[in-house]
Amino acid sequence: MQQKIPYIAISLIYWKCIMCGIVGYIGNKNATEVVMNGLKRVEYRGYDSAGIAMFENNKLNVIKKSGRLEELIGIVDTNLHHSNIAIGHTRWATHGLPNDTNAHPHTDNSGNIAIIHNGIIENYRSLKKILTQKGYFFNTETDTEVLAVFIASIYDEQKEKDMSEAVRIALSEVAGAFGLVVLSAYEPDKIICARRGSPLILGIGDNEYIVASDQTAIVAYMDKVIFPDDNEMLVITKSGYIEKTFDNVAIDKEPTKIEFELAQLEKGGYEHFMLKEIMEQAETIENAIRGRILLDSGDVKLGGLREVTDKLRDAHRIILTGCGTSWHSALLGEYLIESLAGIPVEVEYASEFRYRNPVLYKGDIVIAISQSGETADTLEAIREAKRKGCVVLGIVNVVGSSIARATDAGVYLHAGPEIGVASTKAFTSQVTALLLLAILLGRMKSISAPDGIEYLKEIKQLPEKINLILKDTSGIQQIAKRYASAKNFLYLGRGYNYPIALEGALKLKEISYLHAEGYPAAEMKHGPLALIDDDMPVVVIATKDSIFEKICSNIEEVKARGGHIIAIATAGFEGNGFLRSKADHIIEIPETLYELTPILAMIPLQLLAYYIAYELGRDIDNPRHLAKSVTVE
Ligand code: M6R
Repeated sequence: MQQKIPYIAISLIYWKCIMCGIVGYIGNKNATEVVMNGLKRVEYRGYDSAGIAMFENNKLNVIKKSGRLEELIGIVDTNLHHSNIAIGHTRWATHGLPNDTNAHPHTDNSGNIAIIHNGIIENYRSLKKILTQKGYFFNTETDTEVLAVFIASIYDEQKEKDMSEAVRIALSEVAGAFGLVVLSAYEPDKIICARRGSPLILGIGDNEYIVASDQTAIVAYMDKVIFPDDNEMLVITKSGYIEKTFDNVAIDKEPTKIEFELAQLEKGGYEHFMLKEIMEQAETIENAIRGRILLDSGDVKLGGLREVTDKLRDAHRIILTGCGTSWHSALLGEYLIESLAGIPVEVEYASEFRYRNPVLYKGDIVIAISQSGETADTLEAIREAKRKGCVVLGIVNVVGSSIARATDAGVYLHAGPEIGVASTKAFTSQVTALLLLAILLGRMKSISAPDGIEYLKEIKQLPEKINLILKDTSGIQQIAKRYASAKNFLYLGRGYNYPIALEGALKLKEISYLHAEGYPAAEMKHGPLALIDDDMPVVVIATKDSIFEKICSNIEEVKARGGHIIAIATAGFEGNGFLRSKADHIIEIPETLYELTPILAMIPLQLLAYYIAYELGRDIDNPRHLAKSVTVE
């Protein structure tokens, strides 16, 4: 990847984990406060229940509560706890009710060992049976409690007591995935943690450490981190840490600096992270192109791909894969790469890829696209591609994430942390990165230097044009008010704007809970046209391009059946006369090259979804049933 993170061939066999947030602290500060603050940062990873364990008054104190983190905050007064060591968890349940009992931390029978866990222990039933026969008992139905008891059973039998050794032995016998943190009253001067398959990062301060599933829980206190790899564990005391493999081989990693600032994790005056992230897009596109555009020669420089340039040039086929919004950018990537570079591209849902035995050849290049870099389905697709001998590249936002490290090379987006569950700025950055890649490949094939220069000049103007769209959102707010009571929406686009129709519909679905569908506009007549009546708002991307006339016909078809048209149009285009006569509402975006239009067209659709969800009073940043990072298959 661009930031030199060495490729490490991690085992992806165990990517079947639940998504939860974990945080642990050891140092001289009020550990309860640090952990509770960290939990606020990782709450996006799961918000069914939360809990904390600290060592105070010579014993472990475990407090946990179902519901949002707010519930736990309501019963944990950080001023009343004076511990220097604590661990905390936010849960996204896959099995087992999200109640107080099933919330983490889980303890062993004695209450002296507390663990938090992100993952699934697959052989927990057989372990539970053996432990029950030995006289141990269980208070919950969770796999995590079994792991706590299993560690305790090993510790109980040790002649020379050593908690980290008990954890190490236990973990070499469990099957499944884990990001695990252990706090024990037997050895209360240390935190022991380990990972296989689930993310875990160590923050390094002065005589203090934070272990967390995300750097966002660390950056307020320290800016140096290391990324343990699969099958590695850490034993952390105030004065230092030991990193080793489960086979007891010592590891020494050079710490890296966290790339973002604390301020980027705040709402910065906006009511929601989603709105803030929409508004940041001029800057994030700027970041995505910085240092990558060589205007004089019309070339693109993607440093992270330097090592694989020959392979890219010789590729007979590129396979783009991702999930959700990242899949939509992949689809757009297909259109861009095929048209600008003439290389055949296939787009695969990462979640389907490995289950359908795809035909892959050695020379194929697979590119995995992901904001978080932690999506389990995408990681599994990477594994499948590697197993079949492909070169696998990444287009990833989160530096040092599992996908960034599992791929051979790649491109970082530099969009900064994206907190709102609905992806916005990451999408436009992904499309920008794919556009740059398409031009880079195109310049190796058929794009002339003058054409390259023209593309790049236009790309450079994108931030300014994005700001023009963002300057006044009042028109979109009015449209949102008008249609917030609708129950169904259609989004139509053609060519490069078809993936934008899909993405616009997804945005609306996930944060407003309204039914919305994206369609290639010309497909309407093959079925969906039957849905149109005067209750149906139809959002149509009708920008100035070679298929504008065709889109106009599709608009006529909808209007003839009573549908309401919300058109995304190019400002100053003479064809807009037709739109003015037919569309109920027009949202204008600045003119740009056809290939770049999707980036601009997406922004009003993000705003429309946001303001409709706002009108409906939805929990915009944390929509029901969803989590930001989907580390479950
Ligand atoms: O982090 P990733 O890009 O790998 O995530 C993939 C999807 O889970 C994600 O895009 C999801 O669809 C978003 N909530 C969409 O807004």
